[in-house]
Amino acid sequence: MDLVPHRIPRHVAIVMDGNGRYARKRYMPRFFGHKAGVDALVRVVRACADRGIEYLTVFAFSSENWNRPEDEVSSLMGLVLVAVQKHLPELQREGVRIRIVGDREGVSAQVREACERAERATAHNRRIHLSVAFNYGGRWDIVQACRRIAAAGIAPQQIDEALLARHMAMSFAPDPDLFIRTGGELRISNFLLWQTAYAELHFSDCLWPEFGEAELDAALRDYARRERRFGTVKADPVLAATA
Ligand code: FPP
Repeated sequence: MDLVPHRIPRHVAIVMDGNGRYARKRYMPRFFGHKAGVDALVRVVRACADRGIEYLTVFAFSSENWNRPEDEVSSLMGLVLVAVQKHLPELQREGVRIRIVGDREGVSAQVREACERAERATAHNRRIHLSVAFNYGGRWDIVQACRRIAAAGIAPQQIDEALLARHMAMSFAPDPDLFIRTGGELRISNFLLWQTAYAELHFSDCLWPEFGEAELDAALRDYARRERRFGTVKADPVLAATA
């Protein structure tokens, strides 16, 4: 089945898992896998834009990743600086708007400034919105939204789902339609818990650095076959065939 334009998801969210195993298979340190992961990310951003996907959100560093060995944490932080330095000009040229979502307080001023530089440089781009979840956790996001609502003095009876959604870190984007996780694990791992309530889930055994156009298209074909119901009844196959 070829990709059907009206079945392309507006928003794809990806847990980029498998960098460590990619490195281990090559007898290399984990950093080697993360570095290859950045190259895969740039490839996938381009492929998503070419397919008309409007929003791509990726999990680059979770609230829990601070518990990794110190040298891995510092190499991931350093990688942000390298990634911005190396890839910002081409992402800029390709019309990618970059946003960083997550708790900025926890990261160093140097990393925060590099992220903000990327955001400022691409603020007028519209071809695809790339959100990089960094020092992010789905539970953190719900808590920070509640805190902001409380700080604004909003009365309990005024709080509903729409209001909470407006205070979440991804309030600028529609909810993800398709959630992809690479690396073979079947978990959401605290990514976009609120926003993926009705996302279609696709799990790939491919390690993230090896994920490319073919794997993306497999996920998009899988998505195109799904019947999205948002809690409503299943379509009657007889009525659907005669419609
Ligand atoms: C999970 O693989 C991956 C991460 C914790 C980091 C993801 C980061 C990137 C792909 C780089 C892009 C991000 C930046 C800094 C711009 P893992 O290490 O858990 O792999 P494993 O399960 O095979 O050990």
